[in-house]
Order: sequence, then structure tokens, then C-alpha cells
Amino acid sequence: MNVIRTFEDYQHHYQKSIEHPENFWSDVANGLTWRKKWDKVLEWDFHKPSVKWFIGGKLNITENCLDRHLANHANRTAIIWEPNNPDEDARHITYQQLFEEVCKTANMLKAQGVKKGDRVCIYLPMIPELAYAVLACARIGAVHSVVFAGFSAKAIADRINDAGSNVVVTSDGAYRGDKTINLKKIVDEAVQSCPSVSKVIVKEYIKSGAPLTPGRDVWWHEEITKVSADCPAEEMDAEDLLFILYTSGSTGKPKGMVHTCGGYMVYTNYTFRTTFQYQEGQVYWCTADIGWVTGHSYILYGPLSAGATTVMFEGIPSWPNPGRFWQAIERHKVNIFYTAPTAIRSLQQAPIEFIEKYDLSSLRVLGSVGEPINEEAWHWYDKNIGKGKCAIVDTWWQTETGGFMIAPIARVTPLKPAFATLPLPGVQPAVMNEGGLEVNGNGVEGRLTIKFPWPGMARTIYGDHQRFKDTYFSTFPGKYFTGDGCKRDEDGYYRITGRVDDIIIVSGHNLGTAEIESAVDEHPLVTETAVVGFPHDIKGQAVYAFVICYEKPKDEEKLRGEIRDTVSRIIGPIAKPDKIQFVSGLPKTRSGKIMRRILRKVAEGDVSNLGDITTLLDPAVVEEIKAGAL
Ligand code: PRX
Repeated sequence: MNVIRTFEDYQHHYQKSIEHPENFWSDVANGLTWRKKWDKVLEWDFHKPSVKWFIGGKLNITENCLDRHLANHANRTAIIWEPNNPDEDARHITYQQLFEEVCKTANMLKAQGVKKGDRVCIYLPMIPELAYAVLACARIGAVHSVVFAGFSAKAIADRINDAGSNVVVTSDGAYRGDKTINLKKIVDEAVQSCPSVSKVIVKEYIKSGAPLTPGRDVWWHEEITKVSADCPAEEMDAEDLLFILYTSGSTGKPKGMVHTCGGYMVYTNYTFRTTFQYQEGQVYWCTADIGWVTGHSYILYGPLSAGATTVMFEGIPSWPNPGRFWQAIERHKVNIFYTAPTAIRSLQQAPIEFIEKYDLSSLRVLGSVGEPINEEAWHWYDKNIGKGKCAIVDTWWQTETGGFMIAPIARVTPLKPAFATLPLPGVQPAVMNEGGLEVNGNGVEGRLTIKFPWPGMARTIYGDHQRFKDTYFSTFPGKYFTGDGCKRDEDGYYRITGRVDDIIIVSGHNLGTAEIESAVDEHPLVTETAVVGFPHDIKGQAVYAFVICYEKPKDEEKLRGEIRDTVSRIIGPIAKPDKIQFVSGLPKTRSGKIMRRILRKVAEGDVSNLGDITTLLDPAVVEEIKAGAL
């Protein structure tokens, strides 16, 4: 199954994957279970754009994640569920149990009217039912659209309406550290503006006493008892939809990225096994939420298709104390630990006793994802968590890519702090200059594109193929544009330098400036807003909003609070601006375009050289903004 064990293997496999991509990927795909093998490996055209992998292949991804492990590993733990509260017991769910739960959940969805091709919105906390619901959709060919349980009613409603979901799966609430959140109430508010929703399935969890709406809402625990545990998997075409997952765009509403069954399965399986060098029997923990792509690909599909034991953590790193991660690593003897730079940086601040208390000697591989990891955090992670003995894999990828793209292979690729290192087999990066030309050779810098398809890539934006083309395939025609900048050093190693578009990555979460701006504008006193990112010690980047009001605010602090609440209500707490500066005007060009370059400099606290401002309609506004900078 295309196993890489040495750097020479990597070089050899990489070469093969470039010279004969179709042979390479069909070898990989042959390691998985198919109902029917493909007639053709690949058809593609990045101008249309159109990409199809394993054409004519038939499969069900859950047969690879569940059924195929039952013959020999039915009693192996598939999921270790670590609850929010460390005083409660963890749960070990075997492959056999997971299989049965998924089949029952699938039958429950069917009984509630879900059919192949329907889009099911899942809004659940990190409890086992979230995994059951996702896999149950895949089992019956329904398309899951998971919405992170920190999003607001408005954000859920937008996603339900965009996908045309008919069924929502939620719970009566969630625990988050010492807080509880009433998810059902949020769903009730959301579905008021979602005419497509006919059923809401509610998992009773925190016993919040959430009322059910008769005719629409049903209890999970009641319906599940009415169905059998026998649910044959639906046969899916390789290019049938597996899921939609929304990600912020630099303009307009979030984009529903579409992933399909065959290519995504092959890619997540391959990249999981290869990058982490997963060995049978190891315990693997990705701390992401299943509401993000990291959780889809590397808590569920990648690990389960590889027969791994994957930890699912309900809680947060800081509660009841900053030792929570390290405690769980000791408790479950975790071998591979995968988290985000923002979590590393926040835990770095805590007294070292919170780490020293725990035995971390089981660890072999440490991963990082979500944003560039700064050198300091990289070294801290290596020294204090890895004890200098673990491979550190900094994985660069995106919701759109489905799986890892540029990442070291654990204990195979020589590491360089803060570098995502080299492309994985099958990935062909190209660095472009602003003039649109590819820059060859090493020791170069530019915009990161990918010039050849890989099986895990998103196929379209749900309902808006034109936007897919415009966003990813028009800036550099014939190439997939990532939106990221990068350096390729003298050794050909890649370092991702961050977004070059209007997306801000806050604590590893993608936020579009346009989306935040329109949320701030919803406040009745606000006329216009411009949002930029600024460096933040823990979050990586944070949100800085420049706000024009109809009249000078009487109580600026109070208004700031109200604006933050507005953003929280419309998008979710993650998008709240850290800094809000009230201004009387914004630096606009004569054609009305906001010069964000200037605002970024002000937000970064670097106003010594703002560059040429003579093209501004009103250069005086810059002085006022500089003077009021926070
Ligand atoms: O800017 C890059 C950054 O996160 C973006 C993708 O965000 P999202 O679709 O939410 O997926 C996050 C999880 C894969 C990228 O365009 N990013 C992600 N991982 C890294 C990174 N930047 C630098 N280094 C990384 N390892």
C-alpha cells in the first residue's frame, strides 16, 4: 500500500507520483475496498474547472471505515471518547460497537425521511453521536453538512438554506469547560427562517429541558429504539457527494465546499497513514472539532479508514486547568498528538508544572495545523511536549484540499522549524509571482498554487460553480490558487507565510473580512466598517475593526460591547473584533476602494512608513486614524 519508510522512499514515490500520477493513485486506491473498481483514474481540466477521480468506481466510505475492520479487529477501540469533565470516565467504542451505532443511526435517519442525496445539517457537540451521525449519512448516501457548534443561529440558517437541508440533527445542549450552551434553542431560532427543514432530531444530553416542536422535532433516544442495527451501505459512485463543509470567503457569504466519495477516501487514508507514519495499535489524538475539516479528515475518515484508534475530545485545553491535554495524553497513552499553534501558544503561558505532572513518554509524533507555527512555539512544542524525541509534522492544507498537501513525513523528512517542508506524493506546487508567472528554482517567494489535481480536492462550491472558478482558478489560469503566500528556500522546503487575500486566520479559524464587516454594519449606529487582521501573541492573528458611526459615540466602551455582541449573534463568538477604533472616515482611493494596506499597518502598530498615500481621496483621514490607533 505504497508505504514510505525512508527519505529515499519518499523521493522515489514522489517522482513516481509526478511522472505517472494515475498509476501512483490507482496503486494507493487498490489498498481500499471498492464495490466496483474504476474504469479510468483521472479526467481533469483546471480551466473549466472539472476534476474527476476513479471514474466509474463504486464504493461506500463507511465500508472502509467500519465493515472492513470487523473480520480481524472488531474488538479494537475505534474511538476513545474523552469527556469535557476529567472526573468522568472516558468511553472506548470498538469497531463493532461503532458499526452498530452507525447502522442504527442510519436507519433512524431513513425513518425520518432522509434519502440518498439529501443534505443533512449536523449541529452537535463533540459527543459520540456526532461521529455516528456523520458516518450514518455517509452510510445511506446522504450528504452531511456539519456546522461547528459555536456558530450562531444566523450562520446555521445561512448554511441550511444554502444546502437546502431537510433534516437537522442537534442536541439539547453542550458542555464547554464550566459552561453549558443550549444548542437546541439556537437551532429553533435558526430553522424559523429555513423552510426546507421538516425534521429536527434531538439528542438529549445536558437535559436542558428543551421543548420539542410537535410534528417537527423528535428525540434521538426514542427514535433509535424503533430501528434495527442492520443497515447495508448504499452503493455510491466515486464522484457522488460525500459532504459539504462551509469555509469563509474573502468576499460574500461562506462557500460550501463539496467533497466526493472516492477521491476523498483515498486521499485522507493515504495522507493519514503516510504523514503520521501510523502503526497498527497506536493511539492517535487530533484535538480539532469535527465541525472543521481537520475533524472530518483526521478524526474520522482518515484514521477510521486506516483502522486506527482515534481520540475524540469533548472539552477545551484550558479547563479545569491548562494540564488538560497532557493529562489525557497520559491517561490514554497517546502516541500521535495533533493540535493547533494557537493551543500551543496559549498552553505555553501556563506554569511548567502542568506538563511535568504527567507522563508524556508514549508520544512519538506531534502535529500542527491551521496557521503558520512560529519558531518559538515550534521549539517549545518540541522540547516540552516531545522531549526532543518526537517528529514534528507541520501540516499545510485547507478545507478545499481535503487533506494534507505540504507536510513532513514523520521520522522520514528532515525537519526545519516552522517549515511545512516538502509536498506529499501527488502534490505539485508552483510558486507564482504577482505578474502571474511561475518562479522556478529555489530561494524564491510568491503565491502558492497547485498545478496538478490530487484526489482529495474539492470539486465545486455547492450551487455556485462559477464562484469556484473565480475564487480558485482565475487568478492564475490553469492552476489552483490557494490564497496563501509562501517561500521556497534553498533546499526546496516550503514555508507558508500566510494569506494574501482578505481572509484572517484567528486561532486557526478562517474568517472573511467582508463577512465580519457586514456583521458589524448590522449595528444600528454603524455606517461603514473596514476589518483587518493584526498579530496576536496567542491567536496568531486577531480582528481589528475601523468603524464609522452615524454620530460620534457617547460611550465608546459600551458601543464596543454592543458591536461585539452583534458579531457574536450574526457569526459566532470566534469572529468578535479584539480592537474597535471609531473613525470619521476610511482611507479610500478616488475609485472608492479601501486601501487596506494602510489599515493593516496601523493595526500592526507600524505607522512609520505607510507608503504612497497621495492617491487617496482624503489623505487627512490617515492622520486621524494614526492618532487614534489602539
Ligand atoms: O492559510 C492557510 C492556513 O489555514 C488556511 C486553511 O484554513 P481552513 O480551510 O480553515 O483549514 C484549516 C485546517 C487545514 C490555509 O490557507 N493553514 C492551515 N495549515 C497551515 C496553515 N498555514 C500555515 N501552516 C500550516 N500548517
